[in-house]
Amino acid sequence: MRPTKALINAVNLKKNYLNIREKVGNVKIMAVVKADAYGHNVKLVVQTLNSLGNKKPDYYAVATIEEGIELKKIKVPQPVVIFDLIDEDSVNDIIEFDLITTIFTDRHIKVLTDELKRTKSKRKVKVHVNIDTGMRRLGVDYQEAFEFIKRLSRIKQIIIDGIYTHFATSDEAGSKFTKLQIKRFDSVIKKLRDNKINVGLVYSANSGAILDFPEAYYDMVRPGISLYGYYPSLKTSKELKLSPVMSVISKVGSVKIVDKGESISYGRKYFTKRKTKIVTIPMGYADGFSRNLTNKAKAIIKGKLYDQVGIVTMDRVMIDVGTDNIKVGDDVILIGKNGKLAIDAWDWSRKLNTIPYEVLCGISKRVPRVLVK
Ligand SMILES: Cc1ncc(COP(=O)(O)O)c(C=O)c1O
Repeated sequence: MRPTKALINAVNLKKNYLNIREKVGNVKIMAVVKADAYGHNVKLVVQTLNSLGNKKPDYYAVATIEEGIELKKIKVPQPVVIFDLIDEDSVNDIIEFDLITTIFTDRHIKVLTDELKRTKSKRKVKVHVNIDTGMRRLGVDYQEAFEFIKRLSRIKQIIIDGIYTHFATSDEAGSKFTKLQIKRFDSVIKKLRDNKINVGLVYSANSGAILDFPEAYYDMVRPGISLYGYYPSLKTSKELKLSPVMSVISKVGSVKIVDKGESISYGRKYFTKRKTKIVTIPMGYADGFSRNLTNKAKAIIKGKLYDQVGIVTMDRVMIDVGTDNIKVGDDVILIGKNGKLAIDAWDWSRKLNTIPYEVLCGISKRVPRVLVK
């Protein structure tokens, strides 16, 4: 079997989660496990978090219907919320699989009620309402939210199980815009309460808000990236202790002695500075080792950091190990830790001008995820 693997550290995952639990106190937790749990493998992540007995997450959230169905098929007992939009193509699955859809337009209500009518179903369907307080992506505008929810609350077969908003800048500690979003959200909540409209759980806090905006916890928090051991940006506090959950490992696949001044890989983007040993590692851009890391990434082999050299190819990268005694089969760490040496998703993301979210989701399906307990 190909030796390239993403190890999923169950101990760190549980620690991150329990640290969040401890920080937020007596509120519920909706664990965000979309995009295959940010690339960590949703089954492994859910299995690990659900082993925590009465501390396990209260809700799970995913982006797509397909992701929701996947959770239902593995019999996840918690309610599953879908962030994606409901439409004629998905409504049947929403009802059949008992998923909680997000709704925020009259069209969404119509799609749902039409389907209930069409199937003559007497079932009650739970929904969550997304309220746009400033993200300007999805959700009913906060100024129209009260009227929308009032209309919705009159439909007997629909149960409003929750309302939420999403922050644009909660990953900047002290962000004024987040404070404004919270104020807008609060104004909607107040009006609903004053009018005794029951909306179930109120929630908003992603990882950034969990770290730095405790006033946004309400009834439930909604962590994603912090579960997996990363702060959402470099501008948050470090109010939570987080440890990366994923490491990417492999083994040296081949060793070649190359003379000084030789070019390595396609396009001749690296020339050896001396007679040296070039080793190949079976991980390329098809595995999520971005081609844009060319001549920028590092690898840890036998407790030492080495440079990746030459254009990253589809299935393989090359590492210059000089004259060191490195052999076929030696362990390689591409993301991970060895003693004091560490390469994490931030190291990649800085070089790629992105964020750890994208690096983690970008480790492709070809790399098997292996749970380490
Ligand atoms: C609607 C929604 N809520 C919560 C999250 C989790 O955010 P984070 O990973 O920053 O904690 C996301 C992630 O993008 C999201 O889209």
